[in-house]
Amino acid sequence: ALIGAVLALPATGPLTSGAISALLDGPRYDNHKLVRLGVPNNVLANVHRFLDEELGLDIWDTQSDHIDVRIPPGADDILTSKPLSDVAGSALTVTVLDNNLQKIVDEETQRLNSPSVQAANWFADYHRYADIKTWYQTLAQQNPSLVTFVPSIGKTVEGRDIFAVRITSKTGGSKQQIWFQGLQHAREWIGGSTVQYVSDRLVAEYAQDKTLLDRAEFIIIPVVNPDGYEYTWTGGRLWRKNRSKNSDGSFGVDLNRNWPDHWGQGGSSASPSSITYRGPSAGSELEVKALSKYFLAPENKNLVGAIDFHSFSQLVLRPYGFTSSRAPDEALLKKAGDGVRDRIRAIHGKQYTSQTAYDLYQTTGSATDWWYGETVTKALGNRRIYSYTIELRPTGSSDQGFILPPSEIIPTGEEIWGSITWWTKFVLDNP
Ligand code: ARG
Ligand code: ZN
Repeated sequence: ALIGAVLALPATGPLTSGAISALLDGPRYDNHKLVRLGVPNNVLANVHRFLDEELGLDIWDTQSDHIDVRIPPGADDILTSKPLSDVAGSALTVTVLDNNLQKIVDEETQRLNSPSVQAANWFADYHRYADIKTWYQTLAQQNPSLVTFVPSIGKTVEGRDIFAVRITSKTGGSKQQIWFQGLQHAREWIGGSTVQYVSDRLVAEYAQDKTLLDRAEFIIIPVVNPDGYEYTWTGGRLWRKNRSKNSDGSFGVDLNRNWPDHWGQGGSSASPSSITYRGPSAGSELEVKALSKYFLAPENKNLVGAIDFHSFSQLVLRPYGFTSSRAPDEALLKKAGDGVRDRIRAIHGKQYTSQTAYDLYQTTGSATDWWYGETVTKALGNRRIYSYTIELRPTGSSDQGFILPPSEIIPTGEEIWGSITWWTKFVLDNP
């Protein structure tokens, strides 16, 4: 619910990015506010860049006329500071959407600790890394003709395996390939659940309809960032990055700013403690090294499409993220993205927006730009990848953000399943 109180606090001097980042870290988020900054569209990109790259704040949602941002206690004066009004102009409005984010985190923790949930259906709630791994191993054991469990494509800093799963039938010879991944960003739990849901349906539907698995092979990375993901269960629910130890003693690189494509050219932070820290060099992170190597491995040379699942805001994003220039395949990419949007809406009526990633805000070093970029295109002999980021539920106007109620796991899975089956066929038919 919108609380609607407008802050009017004295400006006590600018906080530095490092100081703000330290305040944003968990493990608790008592009195962390979610604040809506209303800004005219013509300054939106600059305000976004200022909040993200200069201040190192945690931006939750960006829309055409506002940006929602988490403000830790002690950082309120940013909102009335001169540097912000210099960028945002006098039309800036400030509205508090939630004045204590710890409350929704506590409610979630309480639910997860209640034993009734453990016994229920797998998709009744979210799960730990080790349980997700076991679930996939069981899926493979019970469906040996369709599912191959790949125990490790690389290890993390904390020694966890990044596992993969390959799903296809034994019929059909050499096939086109599709890549799905989730949980690049640790706190975006619904991204993991949705990848699991899609994996489950791929296997379950084969008995009725053999088309997808006879035509394509699905290569799935269910937990891209195991260290960060485990940290959201044990250290701080709102953690986004991996758990690399940085040069200044802070932790974490934003994996979706670390891919070797236009790395470091804007839309990422150079400050290690920042939530969008790009890392010390392009592709420096073990997770990015492991995934990019596997993406280009000989057994995956027939990849034609890839989707990176994130939350939240309900968006279907296509390349590019690094530039406002349109991709060479813009017409086809748009057609496929708009098609996903329309089919999602047909399932439960949810409105997702289909647009280019840059038009949301600029990023460099993202997975989707790398998939679509020069390195991969060349490696595949000039074949290009249909490359998408899907931002799942909820919408930006909700105040639950990353803490999505588990009752939405199955409906989210259903709308994504219903749309990406169509998308897969479109991609296979228009390589
Ligand atoms: N929200 C995701 C991130 O910040 C996806 C960004 C998609 N790319 C973009 N240029 N907006 O990593
Ligand atoms: Zn994300």
